[in-house]
Amino acid sequence: MDYKIAVIKGDGIGPEIVDAALPVLGAVGKAFGHRFKYEYLLAGGAALDADGEPLPKKTVKKSKDADAVLLGAVGDPKWDSNPGDKRPEIAILGLREELGLFANLRPAMVYDELSFACPLKPEIILGGLNILIVRELTGGIYFGKRGTEIIGEASAFSKIVDHLKGEKTLPPGRFAYDVEQYTEFEIKRIAKVAFEMAMKRAGRVTSVDKANVLDSSRLWRAVVEEVHVQYPEVKLEHLFVDNAAQQLIKNPKQFDVILTSNMFGDILSDEASQITGSIGMLPSASLGEGSFGLYEPIHGSAPKYAGMNRANPVATILSAAMLLRYSLDLSAEADAVEKAVGDYLRAGYRTPDILTEGKIPVGTEECGRRIADFVKKA
Ligand code: IPM
Ligand code: MG
Repeated sequence: MDYKIAVIKGDGIGPEIVDAALPVLGAVGKAFGHRFKYEYLLAGGAALDADGEPLPKKTVKKSKDADAVLLGAVGDPKWDSNPGDKRPEIAILGLREELGLFANLRPAMVYDELSFACPLKPEIILGGLNILIVRELTGGIYFGKRGTEIIGEASAFSKIVDHLKGEKTLPPGRFAYDVEQYTEFEIKRIAKVAFEMAMKRAGRVTSVDKANVLDSSRLWRAVVEEVHVQYPEVKLEHLFVDNAAQQLIKNPKQFDVILTSNMFGDILSDEASQITGSIGMLPSASLGEGSFGLYEPIHGSAPKYAGMNRANPVATILSAAMLLRYSLDLSAEADAVEKAVGDYLRAGYRTPDILTEGKIPVGTEECGRRIADFVKKA
C-alpha cells in the first residue's frame, strides 16, 4: 500500500538522524511491499532561516494531509535570544496544538546489551526496565494564560493580574505568570490512553500529580479515578510528583505506565530517559484522536554534534517503528524494525555515544544502513 509521511528534519543533528532512518523505512517497504511517499517540510530554526517563521502554515497544512509526521529535532542556541514567538520550540508546541496531539507516549527501557550505561547500581535495574510515560501534551501550564506585567501599570491583562494576586499587595516591579489549568475533558481523554496502554502491558497505571497543593491536580486525581472504573483489570496508584521523582531513582522497576500532566511529564520523562543511560535510543509518539501522529526521538538537536556523522539515529529509527505501529497499523513491520535494532546491537555495532571496548564503531549513516540490512535479512 502507499503511505504519505511528512518528514521534518529540523536543526542540528536532525537532518542526519532522519537521513539514517529513511533507509530503514525503505527496507521495510521493500520487504513488506509498501510505498512510503515523503513530503519534506520545514520547522524550527530551519524554517526561521528560510521564512522567518518557526512554523510555516504550509508545514501545518501538509502535515495534516499526511498519514503521519516523522521529525528529527529542532533548536539551536543561535536563536536563544529570539523573542518567545520566534523561537524554534514554538514549532514543536504549535505542531502539537494544531495537529491535536494530546497524548505523548515516551517509553523508557533498558536494553540488556546497554545495561552498563544505566547510572544506577546494577541491582536496581536487574531483570530489565520498561516504563511507558503517558504525558498530556496540549494542556496544562504549557497552554494556559501567560504573561509578564509591571505591577501598578494598567494593561489589557490587569484583570488577570488582579485575580492572580488576589488580596495580596505585590511590591512594584515586574510580575510574570503562567497558569496551570485542566478541563475534565482533557484529563479524561489522556487517562483513557494510559489505561488502554496498560491493558496491553503489565496492567498498572501510576498517576502522578501534586494533589496536596494544586486544584488542577485534585481534579486530575478525581477524574482519573472516575475513568479507572471502566478499567477494573488495571491497577491504579497515585503518587505526588516529588515522590515520583524519588521513586524513579529508588525503584524504577515498580512502574509500568506513568500517567501525568504536560509539565510533570516533561520533567519525569527526562529523568526516566537518563536512567536508561542511552538517551540516543529512546523514541516517542504524539497522538490525537485518530491514527495520525507525530514521531520523534526524545533527545534534542545536539547542535555541537551536527554534521559530524556521530549522532545515534536509533531513537529516530525506533520512532519510525512507532509510526508504523500506531499511525499505519503495521505491527509486523514495526516488530521487524525493533528486532533489527536488537540484531544490530547484538552484532556489536555502536555509535560513539554508547561505544565501549571491543565493540564496532559506526557513524550515523552506517548505523542506519546496518539496521536497514537487518530488516532486509528478516
Ligand atoms: C520535550 C521538550 C519540549 C517540551 C520543548 C522543546 C518545548 O522539552 O519535548 O520534552 O517541553 O515539551
Ligand atoms: Mg522535555
